Amino acid sequence: MISPKKYARTAKKVPKGFETPNEFFNYVYNDEEMIWMGQNTNHLHNENGVVEAMMGCIKKGDYSKYPPPEGFPELKELIREDLGLVHGFDTLITAGGTESLYLCTNDILEPNNNTITCDPGYLIIDNFASRFGNVKSVSIYNKECGYKLTPELVRQNMDENTKLVSLIDPLNPLGSSYTKEELKEFKEIAEENDIYLINDITYRDFARDHHLMAKYAPEHTITIYSFSKIYGMAGLRIGAMISTPEIINSVRSILINDLGTNLVAQKGAIAAVNSKYEWLDRIRRITHHNQKLIKKAVDQLENVFIPVYPSDGNMMVIDMYDADVNPREVADYLLDKGIFTREGSYTSKRFGHRYLRVSYSIPTKQVKYFIECFLEVMG
Ligand SMILES: Cc1ncc(COP(=O)(O)O)c(C=O)c1O
Repeated sequence: MISPKKYARTAKKVPKGFETPNEFFNYVYNDEEMIWMGQNTNHLHNENGVVEAMMGCIKKGDYSKYPPPEGFPELKELIREDLGLVHGFDTLITAGGTESLYLCTNDILEPNNNTITCDPGYLIIDNFASRFGNVKSVSIYNKECGYKLTPELVRQNMDENTKLVSLIDPLNPLGSSYTKEELKEFKEIAEENDIYLINDITYRDFARDHHLMAKYAPEHTITIYSFSKIYGMAGLRIGAMISTPEIINSVRSILINDLGTNLVAQKGAIAAVNSKYEWLDRIRRITHHNQKLIKKAVDQLENVFIPVYPSDGNMMVIDMYDADVNPREVADYLLDKGIFTREGSYTSKRFGHRYLRVSYSIPTKQVKYFIECFLEVMG
């Protein structure tokens, strides 16, 4: 008999009335009216050439061929240009940032190594890292550290077996992000101790200001890139990893998708990067405006607060612990109203009981409806 492996928990709790996470996700997916504030996805795109590029490829029947295994060179180059990491870097196209995170942990870690992650944080990284080594999850839910894994916290928690540090910037779920000075300190830590830094920049384009770890410590950084959020292409499952040719070469030896990533999605991704500067400002503007509306509503409530404001992501945390409100009950209530949000336990083992996470790259009309229902339930 085969029993499930005992890796770090993936935190897929099943909401009320559902038997499995899959049943729940199938339910929210199939409800066409559902307001999607639960997965930091982006529902603000209209004309951007992505549909036309994918349809063109489908109509020609190109999908009966395999794509180049590491991705179309055009897409690989566009991603590097988008980041300004043109010389001395290589790219691998993957089925989402998720596959890149898996490959990265698999490639770098030996069984006696540990990875430093943070709580709250993106727990899938903890899960992957625990398959190949150990995980040291550091609590960051406090003002003193600015709700982020600081260089100081990394120094305090690392030991001789630390090989990897996870820097999610901006951070899911809080929206905290790093300054240039902090990145310089991480560079020192990485170089002094010969460790690697995962720089997950999934939410980069929502940030007011953003700096890439790879510009400071290129030899020690693996950058994780996603098409799911700013590009609004979550269902197409496409992303990338960018690092030095040496690291990418090493990852080549452990590839899963040896026959390449969905070519229709890649054609869509090429169109998305090419059209980025036509739609980026509009999406950022609406997202920032929506965030302000939610903040204004939260400020009306006693003992409820947003720990990181403004958030540099398209999501934020609303802490309701001191108001004696259970975020899970709030999420269930909102789901009944047709709004999908996420209680904290999805992104935190230690602080999940304190907060609800909401994302807001959605039409402002929907945000206003959320506010109405949220104030109602909190009242
Ligand atoms: C920090 C972070 N990294 C990666 C991902 C997954 O990205 P993808 O959809 O490209 O696999 C997410 C999704 O929410 C995320 O929050």
